[in-house]
Amino acid sequence: MVKLLIKDIGEFFIEKETKLVLAIQDNNGDINHACGGNARCTTCKVKFIDGEPQKYTQAEYDKLLQEDAIGEYRLSCQCTVDHDMSVIVLDNHSTSNRPDPGSRPHDNITPPPTWISNKK
Ligand code: FES
Repeated sequence: MVKLLIKDIGEFFIEKETKLVLAIQDNNGDINHACGGNARCTTCKVKFIDGEPQKYTQAEYDKLLQEDAIGEYRLSCQCTVDHDMSVIVLDNHSTSNRPDPGSRPHDNITPPPTWISNKK
């Protein structure tokens, strides 16, 4: 188990390798995931306070490049909780205009990940 702190929500022990967006959602994290966890929408974005992963999926990196958001935020649907980390949820469902947060992302990262190292 590893520790996940979600700012303004709490601190939780999470099974290692859990997808971050699910760890947040399943611990009352109030997060959107409009594209169902496929690195297409950015509504699952988080800011890392601590413990930012050093690797990206190619899909995440391409989306962040497209949005000119490298270094600004990460896509929680493309990260796993594999060590202690602290995050701020940037797109809360409760304050968005979305009727629902989006379909539940798959337990595994989708699309199937190609991992690349931090290119910042
Ligand atoms: S980019 Fe859409 S849920 Fe992560």
